[in-house]
Amino acid sequence: MFIVANYELTPHQVDLIKNSWGKVIIYSEQAGEAFYTHLFAKAPELVSLFKTNIKAQDRKLIYAVTLLITKINKLDNIREEVRSLAKRHTLYGVKPEYFQVFGEAFMDMLDRVLQSNWNEDMQLAWRTLYGIIAQAIIDEMSTASLGV
Ligand code: HEM
Repeated sequence: MFIVANYELTPHQVDLIKNSWGKVIIYSEQAGEAFYTHLFAKAPELVSLFKTNIKAQDRKLIYAVTLLITKINKLDNIREEVRSLAKRHTLYGVKPEYFQVFGEAFMDMLDRVLQSNWNEDMQLAWRTLYGIIAQAIIDEMSTASLGV
């Protein structure tokens, strides 16, 4: 999985994420295109899982990330979203091992969209955020499959 050293964000990291996400939203069309281009180049076997038109898919992803970011100060705040994302992603055929390449494509997209603003601090903040959310979804997926 997307290994991160620390599963907590500092207030400064939350600020970095919120500020940079604003720019991604402004360039959401290019961001979405960059993301799926990277993802499908790295993992062509994932193409067939996506049935919805990619633009509509982008908007949903952007909306979900925005929602998660506004609540990220506490992981407990996003439990409900995580639970329902896990349930739906299991139905889409998503497996825990896909989160690695998905995270890499997401980081590549941020690098491309944020350009000179993309630095090490920001990268660490985003990796930590992704690690927290992805791990929470994966944990929830395995709990659900055990019927717990
Ligand atoms: C932090 C990680 C992720 C987040 C926040 C996320 C978010 C979303 C959202 C908001 C949707 C829209 C539909 C819905 O809400 O159910 C969606 C759909 C989908 N996601 Fe994810 N996702 C994540 C990880 C992944 C991964 C790792 C994969 C693996 C390939 C994946 C594959 C899909 C697919 C196949 C769909 C359905 C597409 C369709 O309707 O055709 N997602 N995701």
